[in-house]
This record gives sequence, structure tokens and C-alpha cells, in this order.
Amino acid sequence: MRIGILTGGGDAPGLNAVIRAVVRKATAQGSEVIGFLEGWRGPIENNTMPLTIDSTVGLVQKGGTIIRTSRTNPFKVEGGPEKIMKSMAANKLDALIAVGGEDTCGVAHKMSLEHNLNVVCVPKTIDNDLDATDFTFGFDTAVSIVTEAIDRLHTTAESHNRVLVCEVMGRHAGWIACYGGIAGGADYILVPEKATKIADVVASIKRRHTNGCNYSIVVVAEGAKLSDEEVLKTDEKDAFGHVILGGIGDRLAKHIEKETKFETRAVVLGHTQRGGSPTAFDRVLATRFGVAACDLVHAKKFGRMVALNGGQIVDVPVEAGVGKLKTLDMGLYDVASVFFG
Ligand code: F6P
Repeated sequence: MRIGILTGGGDAPGLNAVIRAVVRKATAQGSEVIGFLEGWRGPIENNTMPLTIDSTVGLVQKGGTIIRTSRTNPFKVEGGPEKIMKSMAANKLDALIAVGGEDTCGVAHKMSLEHNLNVVCVPKTIDNDLDATDFTFGFDTAVSIVTEAIDRLHTTAESHNRVLVCEVMGRHAGWIACYGGIAGGADYILVPEKATKIADVVASIKRRHTNGCNYSIVVVAEGAKLSDEEVLKTDEKDAFGHVILGGIGDRLAKHIEKETKFETRAVVLGHTQRGGSPTAFDRVLATRFGVAACDLVHAKKFGRMVALNGGQIVDVPVEAGVGKLKTLDMGLYDVASVFFG
């Protein structure tokens, strides 16, 4: 078979491990793989590169994606879907493996329904917000980066008697904030799934300080909801219509300082959470996903997404993954809140 692969949306550590696994498995199955460059822009513009065992060797530990990515929405491009089908035919491709989050996989789903594209999806996002899979790769790495950052914030916060507010990614899901906050020992965590009163955060910090702690660490998800304040500063949207988030940490820090009179600083971890090498967990998950995606293609099981279910790799209809956002398990938040001041 001839198989195309693309990586779309925000990059996530583990993408290169998927590419390597797909190439290695496909080659063993007697198939050839080509990469479409920069997400859905690749097939729209027929921009490709050959992928061989030689060109993908040593990729398991490399962050980013060698075929690059973009947030291109083909349904917003004049004739986009038709151009994709033309590129598939021009390259004599039997199938496409789309590696991405809700947007990339959402496009894949629409392309298979409306244009009969033979597609298999691999779920990726640091946000861990895709349904029907226990974890997406990239998430574990992001959590490790957040944990290390919070560890570092602890020592400087303590030295200065400060409150440090750490803003993390995750879009409309609080997975990174909650996992990172628990692992880093945060004194308060704000997530999108629970509207938080600033007064509660303030009271909790004051309580801690009254009880003898001279510093506090607050983790806030970029999409966190505050019950007594406008959450979003901006209406700016990306090509998929998502509001571009960011800035809540700074505003929260100012409120905390004003209300508690404790010196407070905000730190935005931003894209450091998506950079660098994947953790061992993400390397293994990405590799298992890549091999499983290849098997699905060779079995001609199209319109499916590989997923992790209770430790096993399974496959589900793509719509099961993208139908609804997987928001934070609030049982986990209850665990985290045991440690709030
Ligand atoms: O979906 C991954 C993610 O990193 C989100 O957590 C974040 O809101 C968004 O992408 C940032 O997107 P960009 O890299 O386009 O600024």
C-alpha cells in the first residue's frame, strides 16, 4: 500500500515517535509512506516528503514533528477538501493517517464522511481532552514539565515569602493543571470545569500564611473559570474558531496581591509545555499508536481512531474521539483539593 501521514494542530512530544513507528511497521508490511507537510496544508498544496527507515531513524526521543504542523482548516480554504482528494490521487495513496487532536481528527472525520477519504486517526494533544482514549501522548510530558517548573517555583517563592501563580495550558480542560498541581504540591488549583471564587483562593492563602507558611503556589489553567469575573480578555479566534487563551495568571496574581497584601508574581509556562523530548510513557504510547494505526490501514479499517483503554490499544470510530470534549475527572480535583490551604 501507499500511505500518507500528516500531523496537525499544536505539536506534542511523541509526534516523531508515531511517524517512526508508522514507517517502520509499514515498511515491514511491504508498504511505502510519504509525509504531507504542515498539517492539512500539506495535502491542500500537495507538499510532501518521502519517509523511509533512514530518514526516520533516531526519532523516538526527538520532540516536535519532522513533517511540521499547522492549524489549517481545509473547510475554510476554497476547494480545500477537493484539493486533498486530488493530492491523494496524484500520490497514488491508498490511505491517510492523520495525527492530531479534536480539530485535525474532526476534519479527518468530515473528509471520510463527505469525500470518502480512507483515513485512520491517531489522537495527540498535551491537553488530554480527546474522548474515548484514557490518555493522548504529549500529556505526560507536559505534566512532567509543569511539575519540574512548580518544584523550581517552590524554592524561590519560599525564599521571598511570595505567592507564585503558575499559568498552564490545557485549553478548556483542567487535566494539565490538576495533574501538574497534584504532582508539584500546589496549594490551590483553578480549572475550567469548576467556577472558582477569587475570595476562596484568597481565604485559602491567608489561612496557610496564618498557619505558619510564608509562601503559596497557585496553579491556574489558561481556561480556568472565575465565578466573579470575566474570564477571557480577548475574542481573538484561530482557524477552528477557538478563542486564543492566556493572561488569566497575571490577572489572578494582581487580585491575590491586592486582597492578601502578599507579594505575588505570575509565571506563564506557555509553549515550554510542548517542547523538548517526550517522556518514556509518551514514547511508548506514541509508538504503540503508530504501529496500531498501520495495522488498521492494512486491515482497511478506515474511519477509526486508535485509543488507549485500560492499558490496551483499541480502535474506536473517529467520532467517538471528537464528539465531545473529555473534561477533567472531578474525583481527581477532589484529591487535589485535600491539599488546598
Ligand atoms: O491544544 C494544545 C495547546 O497547547 C493548548 O493547550 C493551547 O491553548 C493552544 O494549543 C495554544 O495554541 P498555539 O500554539 O496555536 O498558540
